[in-house]
Amino acid sequence: MIKIMHLNKSFGIQRVLNDINLDIASGEILVVMGESGSGKTVFLQHLIGLLKPDTGAIEIDGQNIIPLTEKELLKIRKGIGYLFQEGALYDFMTVFENLSFPLQEHTKLTNHQIREKVKEIISVVGLKGAEEKYPSQLSGGMKKRAALARAIILDSKILLCDEPTSGLDPQRSRDISDLILGISRKFSSTTVVTSHDITNSFRIADRLALIKDGQIIALGTKKELESSEDQEIKRFLLKI
Ligand SMILES: Nc1ncnc2c1ncn2[C@@H]1O[C@H](COP(=O)(O)OP(=O)(O)O)[C@@H](O)[C@H]1O
Ligand SMILES: [Mg+2]
Repeated sequence: MIKIMHLNKSFGIQRVLNDINLDIASGEILVVMGESGSGKTVFLQHLIGLLKPDTGAIEIDGQNIIPLTEKELLKIRKGIGYLFQEGALYDFMTVFENLSFPLQEHTKLTNHQIREKVKEIISVVGLKGAEEKYPSQLSGGMKKRAALARAIILDSKILLCDEPTSGLDPQRSRDISDLILGISRKFSSTTVVTSHDITNSFRIADRLALIKDGQIIALGTKKELESSEDQEIKRFLLKI
């Protein structure tokens, strides 16, 4: 379970996160929706300690990660898969190498076990046959799949995905969203996705949060949000 309490973050005079309070249940898929520049990425980066808040706390399974040192954070990060918006694969490594690298770095698995694990995950994300390809040889959708595979290769119980559908066509967006849903359920991962893609957010979310100017202005299920009479929420859902 992830508990976010009174999270505040400013860059200079710009307040980007404004008193965010949120509980994310184990195994839940929460989608944080918001317009470009609303603070989605900044929010997500706080959850793995890439950014420190000015004030507030983030508890992961009861442990506040804010006071942790960089070294202590590394341990926490091993348990969190993060799909960066840009994918962040190593361009000079093949798909197979991109996936085996974290296993070599962070586990004691033998080469044979690593090979088997990579094969399993490649099959989970539907990338069979692309093992020896370099990122530059992959389509946008395949790159996202490879990056997602890398995010989950260490069996993280928490999966964070930053705008997984950005830059993809509608069909590919739907595919990657369904894949995230499937993976989250298969591994019972607590999943936080940021998105401005309302169709796919609604498809996969257990709950959705709407963020505007760094504040959560709505939180609930698809049904709750859709039936809201709040003008701000209505406008937001029609617009994005
Ligand atoms: N490292 C940073 N330094 C200064 N401003 C930043 C930094 N990161 C993000 N911002 C600002 O914070 C706001 C929210 O950014 P971001 O979380 O990336 O939005 P989005 O919802 O599009 O992901 C933007 O105005 C952005 O310019
Ligand atoms: Mg962003």
